[in-house]
Amino acid sequence: MNPQNFYNHTVVWITSASSGIGAALAHAFAAAGAHVVLSARREPELLAVAATLPGSPNHHLVLPLDLTAPDSFAPSLDTITSRIGPIDFLINNGGQGQRGFASETPLGVNLQIMEVNYFGQVALTKVVLPSMLARGSGRIVVISSVVGYVATPRRSAYAAAKHALHGFFNALRAECSRRGRARDSIVCPGYVRTAISLHALDSTGAKHDQMDANQAKAMSAETFAAKLLPKLATGPDEIHLGGPERWAIYLQRWFPSLVARILRKTQR
Ligand SMILES: NC(=O)c1ccc[n+]([C@@H]2O[C@H](COP(=O)([O-])OP(=O)(O)OC[C@H]3O[C@@H](n4cnc5c(N)ncnc54)[C@H](OP(=O)(O)O)[C@@H]3O)[C@@H](O)[C@H]2O)c1
Repeated sequence: MNPQNFYNHTVVWITSASSGIGAALAHAFAAAGAHVVLSARREPELLAVAATLPGSPNHHLVLPLDLTAPDSFAPSLDTITSRIGPIDFLINNGGQGQRGFASETPLGVNLQIMEVNYFGQVALTKVVLPSMLARGSGRIVVISSVVGYVATPRRSAYAAAKHALHGFFNALRAECSRRGRARDSIVCPGYVRTAISLHALDSTGAKHDQMDANQAKAMSAETFAAKLLPKLATGPDEIHLGGPERWAIYLQRWFPSLVARILRKTQR
């Protein structure tokens, strides 16, 4: 499938487009001719990403948005619809990483991660979905993780939020299958070279502020985005994309006790 033909003139709303995977997806969709709406909290970073996108400046829209403020979602949708048009793709990409042991992490950090990584996506989806169902078309894309299947140490809240996304969006997909062509796809990246480990919350709720070795040597966000767009165009339920670590999903499915043993060994 040629992304250029498939995405041309579509409207794509990307959350957390101020850095990493979201910024790279903004570039890839814009290069394929889409009108991109870039959202995240940091407006200067969004404007910097938007300034480098292909297409004329009014082809795209910067719309600051905090995933923990769901009351702002409906007015944001109205702005997009009136200025650019109805949403064809909602890319639920927002996410906060974690690096802290569960035993040392206060509940507030769990709530914060759940709010950004799970409830933010669910709330935004509930705002966008009715218009997709009414039009009988539209795609909701959810950026989960290999950790959406394999819960790794020091990521208990992150893993819980990503697992929860699968529950919600698998159920939603089954519901939508009877109601037109609106549907969702879940994407499970392996390691991608972004600032996620720098932005991750430690057990005190402060930024981890360190580039993890696995992150540093992973595929770039640009490569990830370039591989993702053609796959998304075929409308799969789920996409697993990354280095060899993505095979952990299948190991977890067929050999869960082996995965548990391997993960225990990493803690010695
Ligand atoms: N990198 C990887 O290896 C990897 C692997 C698997 C899955 N993922 C997933 O990929 C997605 C993107 O992560 P990334 O790697 O690109 O990390 P990143 O560079 O740290 O980007 C995270 C983004 O989340 C935004 N964000 C954080 N809190 C927010 C909030 N309250 N409201 C709105 N936006 C918020 C940040 O923007 P602002 O600070 O401007 O709001 C930033 O743009 C996440 O869902 C992550 O879980 C990443």
